[in-house]
Amino acid sequence: MLTLYRRITDRARWELREWRTPSAASFLQEELDRALLDAINWRPRENVLDVGCAKGAYLDALHRRGTAPTGIDISLAALQDARRSGRPVVAASGLALPFAANAFDTVICHKTMHLFQYPETVVSEFDRVLCAGGRVIFSTSNRTSPYARFKTGATGNGRNANWGFSNRWSATDWCHAFARRGLRTRSFFSCNLVWPLVYRICDLWLIPNKWMRRYNRWVRRISRMPLRTDHPHGAAMDYVVELVKHAQRR
Ligand SMILES: C[S@@+](CC[C@H](N)C(=O)[O-])C[C@H]1O[C@@H](n2cnc3c(N)ncnc32)[C@H](O)[C@@H]1O
Repeated sequence: MLTLYRRITDRARWELREWRTPSAASFLQEELDRALLDAINWRPRENVLDVGCAKGAYLDALHRRGTAPTGIDISLAALQDARRSGRPVVAASGLALPFAANAFDTVICHKTMHLFQYPETVVSEFDRVLCAGGRVIFSTSNRTSPYARFKTGATGNGRNANWGFSNRWSATDWCHAFARRGLRTRSFFSCNLVWPLVYRICDLWLIPNKWMRRYNRWVRRISRMPLRTDHPHGAAMDYVVELVKHAQRR
């Protein structure tokens, strides 16, 4: 009976969301993609490791930008879909990368950093597989925003085994940990200037994407805040960070 009730309420919530923003890509996703895929300078044929590649959406996008991406993920189900992208994918954890030292020019990790239980191990693994002069590009939520705090609580509820743990590292915490291994922060992309507005609750879109886009453009204009900045900007809901490894091998 309880299962039937859950199925009906889940379906009703999904329908409500579709009705409010009919199959539209989320506003958050659009800004993150702008930073990750368009504002980052992707070099032809660079070897990119996508950690937490899930179904491989970014493997395709990175391939279209001329790079040679490889994906890893701990979810076998997700990797089944990712294999359809035709790009190499490996079942492995970001905590123990099954690759030789200096194997990649860039490690990208999108919407996954908060899931790593041992962040120091991740930093050391990313550093190990990166060649000298290589880059780490990761995204993470602004941990100080009320929305992110709410979301962190919600993702720690064991709804999905992969989401069972959330570390509490901010973008700056990650940068400090990478800096201790000699990686320099090149730039922050302060995405989604929306956190003062709690516009989405429990996965229900309350304010349509097109309004949020307008609001975001307006905030950028009056605050004169570009997408790419030198420091994390407190008003952002998400960050994309680009770090560079020292060109000399240590
Ligand atoms: C929110 S999804 C992000 C997927 C993709 N990067 C994107 O932006 O669409 C997080 C992914 O990280 C994977 N993941 C979680 N813990 C992981 C770990 N320790 N090592 C590798 N992948 C992990 C999950 O299986 C999931 O596919």
